[in-house]
Amino acid sequence: MPETVLRLKGITKRFGAQLANDDISFALQKGEVIALLGENGAGKTTLMNILFGHYTADSGTVEVMGTALPPGHPRAALAAGVGMVHQHFTLADNLTVAENILLGTRPLWRLGQGDARARIRDLARRFGLEVDPAARVADLAVGERQRVEILKALWRDARILILDEPTAVLTPQETEALFRTLRLAVAQGLSIVFISHKLREVLAVSDRVLVLRHGRLVGEVRTRDTDRHQLARLMVGADLPTQEIPPVPEGPPLLELRAVSAPGLSAIDLTLRGGRITGLAGVSGNGQSALAALIAGTLAPTSGEMQAAGLPAGPGWSPQAAIARGIARIPEDRHRTGTIAAMTLTENAILEAYGRPPFSHRSWIDWRAARSFAEEIIAGYDVRCPGPDTRISLLSGGNMQKLILGRALSPEPRMILANQPTRGLDVGAVAYVHARLLEARARGAAILLISEDLDEVQALSDEIRVISAGRLSPSFPRGTTSQAELGAWMAGHGFDHAA
Ligand SMILES: Nc1ncnc2c1ncn2[C@@H]1O[C@H](COP(=O)(O)OP(=O)(O)O)[C@@H](O)[C@H]1O
Ligand SMILES: [Mg+2]
Repeated sequence: MPETVLRLKGITKRFGAQLANDDISFALQKGEVIALLGENGAGKTTLMNILFGHYTADSGTVEVMGTALPPGHPRAALAAGVGMVHQHFTLADNLTVAENILLGTRPLWRLGQGDARARIRDLARRFGLEVDPAARVADLAVGERQRVEILKALWRDARILILDEPTAVLTPQETEALFRTLRLAVAQGLSIVFISHKLREVLAVSDRVLVLRHGRLVGEVRTRDTDRHQLARLMVGADLPTQEIPPVPEGPPLLELRAVSAPGLSAIDLTLRGGRITGLAGVSGNGQSALAALIAGTLAPTSGEMQAAGLPAGPGWSPQAAIARGIARIPEDRHRTGTIAAMTLTENAILEAYGRPPFSHRSWIDWRAARSFAEEIIAGYDVRCPGPDTRISLLSGGNMQKLILGRALSPEPRMILANQPTRGLDVGAVAYVHARLLEARARGAAILLISEDLDEVQALSDEIRVISAGRLSPSFPRGTTSQAELGAWMAGHGFDHAA
C-alpha cells in the first residue's frame, strides 16, 4: 500500500497578470522520486517555493503526511520534514561546513565540535556525500557546496527532499554522484522531488515525471513508460526539431593561438578552421571568459602568438581589429554585455558597428541605414517585437538573443565566437540558434562554441576541447568521447598525464 507523504491540491499562484501556477495537484509517495520537468518560466520554482512556504499560494493546499501546512511558513515546512536545496545556495561563506550544518538547529550542548563533526561524517557516509566538516565553505567548489546543502537538510531530518535544478552547476561526474546519493536516500525511505529541464536526467533518476508548461500540469507519466520524444512533446507542446549536421568541407585555419598565456590561461594552443565548430566544454570559471576576451581583443596575452585570418594578431590587437579581421561575437551575458537595456533595437543592432559604413558618414550616424539593418534582423531572425524602435529590455530572452545573433551573423563573418549562445533559452529558441550557427558553418565560418551544456557541445561540435583551470585538453573529434571522459577532463584529470 503506497504511503502518500506529500499532497498538493489545486495550487494557483499569480504574479500580476502572470499565472505562474494554474490549479496544480499531485501526490508524492514514500520512497518515490518525482521529476518536475518544464522549460524556463514553466512555474517549477514557484511551485516549490509555495510548497516550502517561501511564497503563499493564491489558492490550494499543501499536506505533508496528511497534515496541512500553514501557508507561508518555511519553518513549518522544515519541521514537517521538507528539505529544500535551492538553485542558488544559501550557505554562510565564512563558516565551516559543520557550522553551516548546525546553524539554526537546537544547540547541542553536550556535543563538542569533534563529536558534531564525527556525526556529520557518519551522515555524509550514509548518503554518499563527500565533504570535510572542518572546511570553510568559502573554500569549497560549487559541487561541494551543494553537498553541504543536502547534508543540512538531512541533518534536520528531512523526509522529503526538493532539489531545484541541482545539476545545472555540476560536472557529469558530480551529477552521477548526486544520483547515487538520491538512490541511497530513497533506499532509506526518503522521497524526492527533482526539478529539471533536462530530459536525459529526468529519465535517469525519476520514477514518475510531471510536466509543467505555462504554469499548468500538462502531463504525468511513469518514467519507464516514456521516452525523450514524448517528454519533449509534453514540455514544449510540439515535436523536438531534429538537427542534422551535414558534412561540410574543412576550410583553412582562420584563427590560431600558439602557446598563448594570459591571466587565467596557460600555454593555449588552439586552431579554428573554416567550416568547423570547435566546442569548448568546461565548468564556467575555468578560463572561458579570458579566452573569449583574448580572441575578441579585450585581453592582452602575456606571451605566445596569435594569428587571425592569416595575419598576426599581436600588439595593438583590439575589439576593432578583431571585428575588422572578421570575428563576430555572441557575448556570454546578453543583459550585461550583449545589449544596452535602455536603448532601442536599432541602437543595439549597431552597437559594435556604428563607427563604420554603412552606418557612419563623416562621423554622423546614418539612422536610416541603422534602422533598416535592425528591420532586416527582425525579419531575417524572427525577432518577435513591436518594431525597431522598441526598447530592447522589453524583449524576452529568446528574442533578445535572436537580435544579437542577427547582429553578429548577418554580415557573414568568417569567425564566430559564440559564448553560451543558448543559456537560459527555451527549447524552440535553442533549436533556432543551433540552426543559424550550423548555417554559418556551412558557408565556411570557423566557430568557437563555448558552452557549459555538454549535450549542446556534443551535438554541434566537429571537435571538442575541454578547458580546465586555464588549460586546454587535446582535440577530441566528433563522436569519439563519452560524457564521462569529457567530465574527467573537466574535473582536471587528464591534464596530469598530458602535462
Ligand atoms: N517573484 C516573482 N515576481 C514576479 N514574477 C515571478 C516571480 N517568480 C516567478 N515569476 C514568474 O513566474 C513564472 C514562473 O517562473 P518560475 O517558477 O521561476 O519558472 P521555472 O522555475 O519553471 O523556470 C515566470 O513567468 C516568472 O517570470
Ligand atoms: Mg526555476
